[in-house]
Amino acid sequence: MEPSSAKLKTLYSQQQIAQMVSNVANAVDTHFAGIQTPLIVVGVLKGAWMFHADLVRQLKTDLLIDFIRASSYGHSTTTSGVVRILKDIEVDIRDRDVLVVEEIIDSGRTLKFIRDRLIQGGARSVKIAALLDKKERREVDCEADFVGAVVPNHFVVGYGLDWQERFRNLKEVCIVSD
Ligand code: IMP
Ligand code: MG
Repeated sequence: MEPSSAKLKTLYSQQQIAQMVSNVANAVDTHFAGIQTPLIVVGVLKGAWMFHADLVRQLKTDLLIDFIRASSYGHSTTTSGVVRILKDIEVDIRDRDVLVVEEIIDSGRTLKFIRDRLIQGGARSVKIAALLDKKERREVDCEADFVGAVVPNHFVVGYGLDWQERFRNLKEVCIVSD
């Protein structure tokens, strides 16, 4: 099936997504209350760019932003298991608190790789915020600290999530059905 023939069914509306973002932001603010240096909020490109943008606008914590880009999927809808860094962070994370922002955790391989890399880079702490969590799909030991919603094992698109680079701009999160 090609993206052009996809049938989409809304899983989360704009309003539901906004509520998830707000819940995650409140939990992050509570966790980092009293932080001494700005929190470094690292968005995982491309998929997390929209969640990252909405989340940082809700946060009251003193922060700065950065991005990292990793690849594990290629053009397949199943993970290859191999993670590569395509664009690294640019700020110095030594002795700093880092929040990695990801739109969805599936096998957990991408985030485990990124988290381990940031810890090796000298971060004081590395926490993970994920809008969606496909918990039943986990293959490695990597859990998010802040989660918007646990989702069943469906392939979803929209709000940053793509299918062969399509549908990232949808305002809702939709299930692809054939
Ligand atoms: P993981 O390394 O298997 O956890 O894969 C995480 C990445 O796979 C996410 O950041 C997404 O880019 C992609 N991904 C996983 N599930 C979906 C989905 O349902 N739709 C679109 N992309 C997905
Ligand atoms: Mg991603």
